[in-house]
Amino acid sequence: MTRPATRAGRPHPPPAARVLPSLYSSETGRTYRLDRLIGKGGFGEVYLATPTPAGSLPPRVCVKISYRLTGWLREAYFAELLSRQARALPVFDRFVQIESALTRYCLVMEYAEHGDLGSWLGARGGQPEKFVRQEIAAILETLDVLHRGQAMHRDLTPFNVFVCANECLKLGDFGIATHQASRRGVTADAFNPLGAPTEIAWGKVRKWQQRDDVYQVGQLIAMLLRGDVHSPMRTRDVRRLPCSDHLKEVIHRCLGARGKRYESAGEMIEALQHPPKQLHKGVVKSLKGRRVSFTGFLKRPRRDAIKAATRSGALVQRSPGPSTDILVRGRPNALQIAGKDGGLKLMEIRRLAGKGHRVTVIGEAQFWKLVAR
Ligand SMILES: Nc1ncnc2c1ncn2[C@@H]1O[C@H](COP(=O)(O)OP(=O)(O)O)[C@@H](O)[C@H]1O
Ligand SMILES: [Mg+2]
Repeated sequence: MTRPATRAGRPHPPPAARVLPSLYSSETGRTYRLDRLIGKGGFGEVYLATPTPAGSLPPRVCVKISYRLTGWLREAYFAELLSRQARALPVFDRFVQIESALTRYCLVMEYAEHGDLGSWLGARGGQPEKFVRQEIAAILETLDVLHRGQAMHRDLTPFNVFVCANECLKLGDFGIATHQASRRGVTADAFNPLGAPTEIAWGKVRKWQQRDDVYQVGQLIAMLLRGDVHSPMRTRDVRRLPCSDHLKEVIHRCLGARGKRYESAGEMIEALQHPPKQLHKGVVKSLKGRRVSFTGFLKRPRRDAIKAATRSGALVQRSPGPSTDILVRGRPNALQIAGKDGGLKLMEIRRLAGKGHRVTVIGEAQFWKLVAR
């Protein structure tokens, strides 16, 4: 269930009738017999239903009834926009039924036989990396279409990802999806605080951007790997996930510092397809006037290295950034986020390299030779 700010505090919908009604679509001329309630919340109800005549529809479908127009409009619109996307939960019919004082806004969609990702993972537990990569790549393709159309989902929780036939994951619940008028994003007035990036949940950042959808996809990957949808993944725990260093690095980029996050689904797809290039050691002639940063354990104390570098005319930086020229690499720390080459500083160097900024990595031996000159 989604409880975004804009949906809260509205009058409650009337209680559902005891005898389940049949609904008629003036749009397609079909009748939907409601068979069983499968989801309920502030928005209304979701029923398993039988369409007559079924025609090209599956024999059983889902009917989502809400009592307010806005969410229904958004869902109907985004379903239309994404109708050719295999991983957007298809919407087959949309209609309004008015019965004296009661207006039902209805959407007919594919019934996800395994339910939402939350309940499916609860029953199945963690999934192997191969499956996770394949399904996330597929979901990201749909999200990429949304992002390229300057829109955002804003509610990519495990309860809005559906597990359909053949354990195929599909995106659903576009109830708070929206377009952005500018690349700065949209005012974060509707989001589910439980699934939102902390900067937004705490009110420090007021714009929801595509990179915040990316954050949620990072959480989904961690949930799929762990089989746990209840506790959000923290960046410092990424190293313990049961997956490759490459995938850990991708998850870390999704969940970590907002400014370094993939900016959209497209960037994340790229990162998943291309494992980071190995960082080869380079050669430097002098440290004079160069901006230098250190990583890993050095044989001598770090403060001696900093003094020596400064004496040689280098400007020492605590952590590497876009102005860094040289990274001195000592022995890796065994507790790094994404394996031997996956410390925070090396990951940052690779991120910068992806943006076209080259930092030369040198070993400790070369460093001490340079400062001895
Ligand atoms: N097509 C579907 N197939 C199976 N279960 C569904 C389907 N649609 C909704 N549900 C169930 O109902 C819940 C609420 O539906 P959702 O569309 O996410 O509405 P809300 O806007 O309240 O979040 C889902 O989390 C899921 O458990
Ligand atoms: Mg939902």
